[in-house]
Amino acid sequence: MVVGEIKTLIFGAGGMLGTDLCSVFPDAVALKHSDIDITDRELVLETIKMINPGVVINAAAYTDVDGCEDNKELAFDVNGKAPGYIAQGCFLAGAKLMHFSTDYVFDGSKKEYVESDLIGPINVYGESKLLGEMNIIKNMDNYRIIRTSWLFGLHGGNFVDIMLRLSGKMDTVRVVNDQFGKPTYTADLALKTTEVIGLAPGIYHVTNEGMCSWYEFASAVIDNVVPCSSEEFVRKAKRPRYSVLVNTKTAPMRHWRDALMEYLKHIVESDFVTKYYSGKISKGKLAEMLKVNLYEVNEVLEKYHVKSSVGHGRFTRAIETAEKSSEYEG
Ligand SMILES: NC(=O)c1ccc[n+]([C@@H]2O[C@H](COP(=O)([O-])OP(=O)(O)OC[C@H]3O[C@@H](n4cnc5c(N)ncnc54)[C@H](OP(=O)(O)O)[C@@H]3O)[C@@H](O)[C@H]2O)c1
Repeated sequence: MVVGEIKTLIFGAGGMLGTDLCSVFPDAVALKHSDIDITDRELVLETIKMINPGVVINAAAYTDVDGCEDNKELAFDVNGKAPGYIAQGCFLAGAKLMHFSTDYVFDGSKKEYVESDLIGPINVYGESKLLGEMNIIKNMDNYRIIRTSWLFGLHGGNFVDIMLRLSGKMDTVRVVNDQFGKPTYTADLALKTTEVIGLAPGIYHVTNEGMCSWYEFASAVIDNVVPCSSEEFVRKAKRPRYSVLVNTKTAPMRHWRDALMEYLKHIVESDFVTKYYSGKISKGKLAEMLKVNLYEVNEVLEKYHVKSSVGHGRFTRAIETAEKSSEYEG
């Protein structure tokens, strides 16, 4: 994006958040993992120097929390050292840095965390992300670090997708009911990033509003879910019991339940449209199935770039199948 004459460079452009950032910064130079490995210090410095951006956004990270326990070196290289290289490049180019960190820099012993609270990660992912924060702060002043949590979005595997998948495969899905946090929609976070870039340097907690347990989060997505304890569902990496981030510096975003509804509507629509509308369903039937009016159907079709030349076709076998299935009902 060119803000005035300011050029923006995005690292991690192919990730879940990175893809949404590319939408809100459409003119940015967007680099994916296949374009650059941020652990290559020389390449990072050279790239920033060559592009000479006013703003650098780093959404690249090694985000597999359990994987980090097994691949400690990789975790520290990507999440810990590389942000320091990016900060060095920004400092030399006189660019602002926007970086993303995590609720897992806290140990979870407090019920809520503000930006100035004492950090104390309890797993390798959290330790590596904390090192990233420290390496940025050591190398430059003009940074903004957003700590966020429990991300879900359209462009990456996430908890909501896992729940939907497991729900279809299993009679009941067990989910822990004793870890609490704040689910956050990447589309909302990407938009909020545009605001935080313009604020004073520092650390910001940015999440959707409202806290819940993973079980409560799952219950908002699927019906066949039962609660269990962390002791019953042991993971490789320890998770903080409470990692509820409180943002004291910017206006609150909408509640996670509202953001989740938008996300679910979006995936149902896109799935439905790509699978069935191309099978010549009528607009009327599509409206009925998506529980929207005809005007909204046109909006949905435009959003997914579907040409409306098949507006009044007869139902195909695909549609008959869809009608028999309860998947899209309610
Ligand atoms: N997901 C969450 O719940 C969550 C929670 C709190 C904070 N965060 C933070 O939010 C940010 C965005 O997370 P996300 O969920 O969008 O992550 P993501 O979907 O895993 O995206 C991260 C991107 O970074 C890329 N990447 C990994 N190693 C790289 C390297 N060495 N060089 C260049 N690119 C590399 C990945 O590419 P490959 O896939 O090809 O490896 C991927 O495209 C991260 O800083 C993360 O720590 C995430």
